[in-house]
Amino acid sequence: MSSIQYPTSSGQPCLLALESSCDETAAAICTLDGRLIASRIASQIEIHRQYGGVVPEVASRNHILHVRPLVEQVLADAYRTLADISAFAATSGPGLVSSLLIGTSMAKALSIAENKPFIAVNHMEGHLLSPFMNENGPVRPCVALIVSGGHTMLVRVRNVGQYELLGRTRDDAAGEAFDKVAKMIGLPYPGGPEIDKLSQRGDPTAFAFPRSFLDGRSLEFSFSGLKTAVLYELPKIDLNSEQVLTDVCASVQAAIIEVLVEKLVLAAKQCGEKLVTVSGGVSCNRGLRAALTARCAKEGLQLLLAQPDLCTDNAGMIAFAAVQRFNIGHTSPLEADVDPNLSLVS
Ligand code: KG4
Ligand code: ZN
Repeated sequence: MSSIQYPTSSGQPCLLALESSCDETAAAICTLDGRLIASRIASQIEIHRQYGGVVPEVASRNHILHVRPLVEQVLADAYRTLADISAFAATSGPGLVSSLLIGTSMAKALSIAENKPFIAVNHMEGHLLSPFMNENGPVRPCVALIVSGGHTMLVRVRNVGQYELLGRTRDDAAGEAFDKVAKMIGLPYPGGPEIDKLSQRGDPTAFAFPRSFLDGRSLEFSFSGLKTAVLYELPKIDLNSEQVLTDVCASVQAAIIEVLVEKLVLAAKQCGEKLVTVSGGVSCNRGLRAALTARCAKEGLQLLLAQPDLCTDNAGMIAFAAVQRFNIGHTSPLEADVDPNLSLVS
């Protein structure tokens, strides 16, 4: 179990949020002025690694084991009791139904017991708003790139809750491309961090893997061709060679990064927007962060990257998104259902 502790600010009203959309169980407490004061994650990566991916039933059983201790731990970290919490929030989608039900049921139960509001949060809104956390607020208009295991999308943000989809992937998400290629070349799940690590020692120009820009002005993505290109390369190369393996990783990573960076810059130009944000698990990638920083500086764009510990799934971002909603009067009925395909834009 990993934990991140932030400075406490006792006495501030706050909100407790749970995240259980996939294989991480997480709880966090955020003050109503948007400061994260406690955040813990119980990771199941080691459990699912042996299956090469997330097994939904195993994930939900583990959420049940972790969720109550996590609530008690974040309350202790923040020097709060349940009575100090102004509202309870949980991710209600998108994600695995049986996993989503654990977090939402727990948050609803706490809401009923404490007679406080419940807030259902869209997991993608958690990622979307995460670059504005800590010192980077308030949430303001921008063009946002979200790159996670399940989604790759460009979104125009006008305000909290006012989102316009500019483009998304037609096939695999960027994280999925990392994970699938990693599996093909024998790396453990999840593949993104493994490819990131090995890329540091490889040559990104060793293999000319395809960059799918579709037509020049399109803000849509496609990563399935990259996967196929790697598959065709496999019989011709020796992955037992450390150099070949690191070169494949660096070349795959370079292909994904170039498309993400170029499409984000194109979207900002098309929208006439100077502020761009990047979030989601793939935004941890060191090569991507460096390329974005260099390119945005060159283009005169202001870049806000989600903090590395807030890129992959966590409840801090869910608490922060819930606070943004709560502060403009949004709460959810206790009957609110989970939705595995919940959309960020209507
Ligand atoms: O946002 P996230 O934790 O979960 C979803 O909402 O999907 O993203 C998980 C994805 C996985 O595909 C994982 O391989 C990828 O993020 N990822 C990375 C890195 N760390 C996590 N991809 C590339 N480089 C990384 N360092
Ligand atoms: Zn996520």
